[in-house]
Amino acid sequence: MSSVDHSISGRLALITGASGGIGSAVARSLWAEGCSLALTGFSKLQAVEDLVQELLPKRIHESQKATIYKVDTGDSAALEQLFGDIKRDHGHGPDILISNAGYGKRFPGILDVSLEEFDHTININLRASFILSKLSIPHMEAQKWGRIVFVSSIAAIGGGINACHYAASKAGLSGMMKNLAARHAQSGITVNDIAPAMIGDTGMIADAKAVQGTPGDVKNIPVGRLGTPEECAGIVTVMCKTGYLTGQSVLLSGGLK
Ligand SMILES: NC(=O)c1ccc[n+]([C@@H]2O[C@H](COP(=O)([O-])OP(=O)(O)OC[C@H]3O[C@@H](n4cnc5c(N)ncnc54)[C@H](OP(=O)(O)O)[C@@H]3O)[C@@H](O)[C@H]2O)c1
Repeated sequence: MSSVDHSISGRLALITGASGGIGSAVARSLWAEGCSLALTGFSKLQAVEDLVQELLPKRIHESQKATIYKVDTGDSAALEQLFGDIKRDHGHGPDILISNAGYGKRFPGILDVSLEEFDHTININLRASFILSKLSIPHMEAQKWGRIVFVSSIAAIGGGINACHYAASKAGLSGMMKNLAARHAQSGITVNDIAPAMIGDTGMIADAKAVQGTPGDVKNIPVGRLGTPEECAGIVTVMCKTGYLTGQSVLLSGGLK
């Protein structure tokens, strides 16, 4: 039978894209739960350094540790290197994987999306989650406890304001999530995804103006506002703390379909 251990204090969480809006909010939330953190950034590494400086004085136990890595998640060799570095710094691989780093350039439609752009988007949004899961699962299997959360998008479900390349990359995550959840449930590993829409205070959507005139315009959002990174982090934290929740995609969209 799989474990009923919901405690995440003392667990090590790898969060990719911790330099961004949602990733940094998840880092704050899991740190407040007592997790140690392995945080990645890429072009904005300084933001991760600032985040760690903010978190360290809020340590809730002595052994809590946060480490920082510069990684291009589109580069498979860099992801392998990341796991070597995490093992060196923490003594083992992540107990919790939050595959959050993502990329999506907005185009009007398929005719504007080059093959290079399609491949680049798939590499960062989908292939990276495959590699990160593959690298994470052996340690999780060995200890019969693990949590994997992919940050997907409403685009996986049918909405979204980007073109089809982004929707394909995020829908791929949902299929992979369901397969992994079924295959690894017996080992105490849960796998879920969160599908946010129109989350403000992020690099993707700075504010309501950024989505004006798109299907994600605030006037189309039933709750009448953008979502917040903290609301995403709340769902991700519940996913980490709830061993009976697996194979699920949670649409966090203020009612937008
Ligand atoms: N905001 C929304 O409304 C929304 C909606 C649906 C889904 N999402 C998803 O939420 C996730 C987080 O995005 P966000 O909204 O928080 O936007 P964000 O603030 O722009 O964060 C994006 C993060 O992804 C990282 N990243 C992008 N390309 C990378 C690469 N090649 N290698 C490594 N890291 C890379 C960025 O790192 P650097 O900045 O350091 O390069 C950054 O930390 C993404 O997967 C996105 O698709 C967001």
